[in-house]
Amino acid sequence: MKNLDINISNVFPFISKDRFEEYDELTSYHIHQLHQRKGKGANFLGWLDLPSNITGESLREIEEVASELNKKIDVMVVVGIGGSYLGAKAVIDALSNTFGMAINGRPFPKMVFAGQNISEDYLGELVDFLDDKSYAITVISKSGTTTEPAIAFRILRNHLEKKFGKEEAGKRIVAITSADRGALRDLADDRGYKSFVIPDDVGGRYSLLTPVGMLPIVQAGFDIRKLVDGARKMEEMTRPGTPFWENPSAIYAAARNALYRQSPKTEILANYNPKLRYLAEWWKQLYGESEGKEKKGIFPASVTFTTDLHSMGQYIQEGERNLFETVISVLHPQREVCIPREENDDDQLNFLAGKRIDEVNKKAELGTMLAHVDGGVPNILINLPELNEYYLGQLMYFFEKACAISGYLMNVNPFDQPGVEAYKNNMFALLRKPGMEEETEMIYKRLKKKTEKPDM
Ligand code: PA5
Repeated sequence: MKNLDINISNVFPFISKDRFEEYDELTSYHIHQLHQRKGKGANFLGWLDLPSNITGESLREIEEVASELNKKIDVMVVVGIGGSYLGAKAVIDALSNTFGMAINGRPFPKMVFAGQNISEDYLGELVDFLDDKSYAITVISKSGTTTEPAIAFRILRNHLEKKFGKEEAGKRIVAITSADRGALRDLADDRGYKSFVIPDDVGGRYSLLTPVGMLPIVQAGFDIRKLVDGARKMEEMTRPGTPFWENPSAIYAAARNALYRQSPKTEILANYNPKLRYLAEWWKQLYGESEGKEKKGIFPASVTFTTDLHSMGQYIQEGERNLFETVISVLHPQREVCIPREENDDDQLNFLAGKRIDEVNKKAELGTMLAHVDGGVPNILINLPELNEYYLGQLMYFFEKACAISGYLMNVNPFDQPGVEAYKNNMFALLRKPGMEEETEMIYKRLKKKTEKPDM
């Protein structure tokens, strides 16, 4: 069976091969640091051997809970933000039918997400949508105190309890949180919700292979065992001692780091399949939160081609030369659609007649890559044989491992996110949260000063 592979030949017009070879030793050092738990953030490395450590029993428990819930619902609401929803959303979107049709004729609940914003319109419309549906809630928060999911969960819990009564509502709620900390853990224990634990040593954005990702994915009808198998294969392909040129995560981390040191500060993750849009959102969170600190880090951006060639394409081709591109190319589509021949060729498309849509897409991909490289944009190519659970498992573990190596190459802790607190502190002070009286006074004084007219 083929595996994910990486091609960096279009990086070499921009950095020398000799310089790149220096990363052989460097990445090998950081991979050892990672595995020997000697680097920064070493108490958050539970994800590293998660694929090989997952037991059949833990997977079975997740599958059983999902299947029991699925018997009585037509909609599943997953409440969470950041790492507590993006992994599941990425996999579900990548594998689902674009127009919501059933997979292999089997009915699975419609998956909807909440708690990933504080939009009143979003929540109001969601409640309207759920009014006549049989639904259940999976609420996910490692800290158990994050405001966005907490608000959404309170609103939805109230709605569910009104609709089905407290007892039945309790049977329709699953909480995924820490073993012994946070308001959500207390709530789950007090009210007797079924719950799963997020291990302390696995951070949100690395939590795909814990119940955080697994429960929603299996509820949506996808095979979590294949996802784990794919991740396991990638764990094997990137383990310490693997020669540099055979370790895709080391090559990716090295290429982006070498480019970053040379000049580009923005990486654009491009795909040619709109099903990968949320995979890009997951990747942006993984890299943005892991690297963007201490005034360092590559800014992660994303595009879906060819759609965005008609918007961002202009900038990428001719704008400021401060970026490089990483393309995820899916080699074989799931479907076969050919362009038909027409007798009179009014639309002048007969030169494409008989060709598969994917052939046109692949030529767009190749043509774009050549044009962007000519325009001064280095290109990293990640080939994925197919879009299925197994290769998504490979891809996502590949990115996680590369992200950790990359963070170490930048000498930052890739497993914390201290900067996320700044907005929260201001928001709580503005909302007059008890215990923040001093901050509240200061922030309102500051705002008053800003609006006062300068003395004449
Ligand atoms: O990657 C992370 O750690 C964060 O993005 C968190 O997942 C996010 O902030 C949500 O946190 P929590 O699960 O504690 O609600």
